[in-house]
Amino acid sequence: MSDVINSDLINVSLFKTKLVEPESNGRACYTHYAQSSENNRKVFKKEAVKFVKKTLQNQNYIQTEITNVVAEDALQYSLFDNSKEVPFPKPENPDFEFIDLFAGIGGFRISGQDVNGECVFSSEWDEPAKNTYFNNFGKIPFGDITKEETKKFIPHGFDVLCGGFPCQPFSNAGHRKGFEDTRGTLFFDVADILDRNIKNGTPIKVVFLENVKGLKNHDKGNTLKTIINVLKELGYETSYEILNSKNFGLPQNRERIFIVASLIENKKTFRFPYGIDENNDVIFDKENLNKAKKTQINDILESYPEEKYTISDKLYAGHIRRKKEHLEKGNGFGFSLFHRDSTHTNTISARYYKDGSEILISQEGKNPRKLTPREAANLQGYDKKFIIHSSNVQAYKQFGNSVSVPVIRTIFNEIKRQLL
Ligand SMILES: C[S@@+](CC[C@H](N)C(=O)[O-])C[C@H]1O[C@@H](n2cnc3c(N)ncnc32)[C@H](O)[C@@H]1O
Repeated sequence: MSDVINSDLINVSLFKTKLVEPESNGRACYTHYAQSSENNRKVFKKEAVKFVKKTLQNQNYIQTEITNVVAEDALQYSLFDNSKEVPFPKPENPDFEFIDLFAGIGGFRISGQDVNGECVFSSEWDEPAKNTYFNNFGKIPFGDITKEETKKFIPHGFDVLCGGFPCQPFSNAGHRKGFEDTRGTLFFDVADILDRNIKNGTPIKVVFLENVKGLKNHDKGNTLKTIINVLKELGYETSYEILNSKNFGLPQNRERIFIVASLIENKKTFRFPYGIDENNDVIFDKENLNKAKKTQINDILESYPEEKYTISDKLYAGHIRRKKEHLEKGNGFGFSLFHRDSTHTNTISARYYKDGSEILISQEGKNPRKLTPREAANLQGYDKKFIIHSSNVQAYKQFGNSVSVPVIRTIFNEIKRQLL
């Protein structure tokens, strides 16, 4: 019997990381090398040369033997290759450096670059998200952040660690939880990176994390308490706040928790911005949120959306039926319809691609419509030049998972001003 692999016998997704990792570190190293400033390139060089060598060896029209020297020369040429201009290049003379973990499509990265920071490392394991990231920044993120294979490429001596890590419970209930008790969670890997940098004498100055609002009361508040404890154990003073995108010039009601921790020895405390006003000045006092920049859903809508975004009679009837059932059961779930002159929509989530039920836009004389992918990008504050994934399903997922850019940009600017 032949040894042909029968895909029914193998759950390929179990091997996903292993299959993807070896190759993507080469690509990640090559693109990180090409897109980093001179000081930060070193850590990627060896793998980048290997990647170039392997790539050139695979081109059968090249007759020359591809030695390390040839590959290294080719790599140097890549630094001067302007043919791959990207919409969001690194700043020329950055004021600080940061890393972008759980990077998604780079909401933290755009915001950090907007306030003149250089992103020196990124990690994201989802292939479609990596693709979008590459198209916009020219860098392919490294993969699974829990792996040594990934962590070993993080440069030393940068200023800010950023990330919207997935929220997971910490086990070992009952005793005071420390760094080691978070092992096996993604927060452990954040703490591990902080710890390694402390041990090698280049402590990271600031930690900037984002999560769902529910993190605050997750596991009766123990999850957040553990995070704060662990950061304290590592020498960081933590502040956190729940902020709403609708106070930052976006017509979206999106509440998220933001955590900013700064080295205790630097003796600096952080004051959160709560919003921005009509002049884009920061509002630091919750009492003044009535002065937040006014918005309308209309601001993010396209003038001529394609007809395909109007939902079918069948889908609309299904939405109406389900809403009626929910109402009869006494709960408020069901589709939500918005007029273009309303001040804000619901939160866009990663499941928006399914039926769009959380945000439907009403239309005169016809069924309501879904947001287009560009409108989803606008709703999260992404610039017009952002290159959106070619698959609508991926695009909606990516914007639903993303941070709101103006919120992160405002916090980042305050981190730079107050803590760096
Ligand atoms: C909530 S999203 C963050 C989105 C991002 N802040 C943005 O602006 O697009 C969390 C991301 O973490 C990624 N992720 C989860 N586990 C990971 C791991 N072990 N290594 C690398 N990325 C991971 C997911 O694929 C997802 O894109």
